[in-house]
Amino acid sequence: MTETETATRLIAAAREAAAHAHAPYSRFAVGAALLMADGSLVTGANVENASYGLSLCAETVAIATASAAGRLRDVVAVGVIGGAMDPAGRATGVTPVSPCGRCRQVLNEAAQLGGRDLVVHCGAAEGDAIATYRLSELLPQAFGPADLGIG
Ligand code: THU
Repeated sequence: MTETETATRLIAAAREAAAHAHAPYSRFAVGAALLMADGSLVTGANVENASYGLSLCAETVAIATASAAGRLRDVVAVGVIGGAMDPAGRATGVTPVSPCGRCRQVLNEAAQLGGRDLVVHCGAAEGDAIATYRLSELLPQAFGPADLGIG
């Protein structure tokens, strides 16, 4: 699969995942899809909480799901989409979203563990726009396990 095909696959999966966002407070649905080393996908959507600050981002949920399956070291690439929800709860909008700062750090743990600089595809809820980065571009000079003398 070419990188463009992989990006399209990950963004499609992230859009499907966003359908399961629990985002009644922000009404901003986010979906994330992780490409694993064996070609399979792990997905997540944001999970908000009535105590707003406890909300979980889509990328963090996807990483936690991969970790719970013993697969944190197997993440290769990420796709993320997000957008304001319409009255039916579907994400809308044509502007690509990129992972928040906390999610970049969470993704970095998987990247370091697997020894890979993750490819991060940022898409929109609707439309074809995709911006592709390396995690090292999004989180330069990252703090990681090596700073703790590990790995
Ligand atoms: N959100 C994510 O899920 N991922 C990000 O990278 C940015 C923000 C969620 C958190 C909150 O539920 C909603 O988007 C609005 O900030």
